[in-house]
Amino acid sequence: MTTTDTTTAPGAAAGPAVVLEGRNLVKEYPVGARSGLLRRQQRMRAVDDVSIVLAAGRVTALVGQSGSGKSTLGRMLARLIPVTAGEILLEGTEVLSAGRMSHREYVGDVQLTLQDPFASLNPLRRIEYTLGRAVRIHQDVRTAEAVHERCLALLERVGLTPAERYLDRFPHELSGGERQRVSFARALAASPKVLIADEPVSMLDVTIRKEMLDLIDALRRDEDLAVLYITHDLGSARRYSDEVMVMHHGKVVEAGESRSVIDDPQDEYTRRLLAAAPNPGARLR
Ligand SMILES: Nc1ncnc2c1ncn2[C@@H]1O[C@H](COP(=O)(O)OP(=O)(O)O)[C@@H](O)[C@H]1O
Ligand SMILES: [Mg+2]
Repeated sequence: MTTTDTTTAPGAAAGPAVVLEGRNLVKEYPVGARSGLLRRQQRMRAVDDVSIVLAAGRVTALVGQSGSGKSTLGRMLARLIPVTAGEILLEGTEVLSAGRMSHREYVGDVQLTLQDPFASLNPLRRIEYTLGRAVRIHQDVRTAEAVHERCLALLERVGLTPAERYLDRFPHELSGGERQRVSFARALAASPKVLIADEPVSMLDVTIRKEMLDLIDALRRDEDLAVLYITHDLGSARRYSDEVMVMHHGKVVEAGESRSVIDDPQDEYTRRLLAAAPNPGARLR
């Protein structure tokens, strides 16, 4: 087992326990047509040497324009896609080396939710099936009654009450906000230590965004979750995160305490991003 010395990545200050750490992560994608004779494939770096530290009970916001590499970094940290280079450490253990930690074991600790829960919820299955499946995979419960009880508790945890009313529904019978809550409930079924929420409110009506972000904030506090909040909305990053990392063309251009970065950005790109954002310092409605 490798033990992290937490000296390499920014944000690894003494204090909250470091749960997940990415070191020098790189993701390259092939671009363009494969040239026949030369066989030299062009590659682009969607994520270019990014280091990140997520700590228990803390929200780190990852901000940047569309295409800056936020989702790619989130997917690598969730081990949904392979890394081109770099290391991932979960509670000090390097997880990518062969035989270190199975993917199955890893997803019990690190869960990812997506921008569009419609795309990740099976449209043909009732909510009880979807949640029950996650409960059976991640929790040591045997009987149908026990699974049912856990599903109800999860729905209540994410504010879907009365919970019984939601179990028999299909995803299309729910609002966008309710679907996003179900996808949080499914993530919580694993009792994760890390939640990576990729643009959790971008597809939601502005009037319910605050409720959803308040839910994430409550989960962070109550479950001591380490949260990576991926967003292009600087206003919510300022209000709901402890630290912010600004990505541009696959690189982190600025990182630090959210309020100081957003109120007094040092990097030229962060300044431009802020200039393009409507009232980043303003309170969310
Ligand atoms: N599977 C893929 N194949 C090739 N290119 C990809 C793939 N996924 C993402 N990219 C490219 O990587 C870059 C970063 O994308 P992404 O991580 O989705 O950015 P963001 O989430 O910040 O909008 C973009 O240029 C995108 O087109
Ligand atoms: Mg994205």
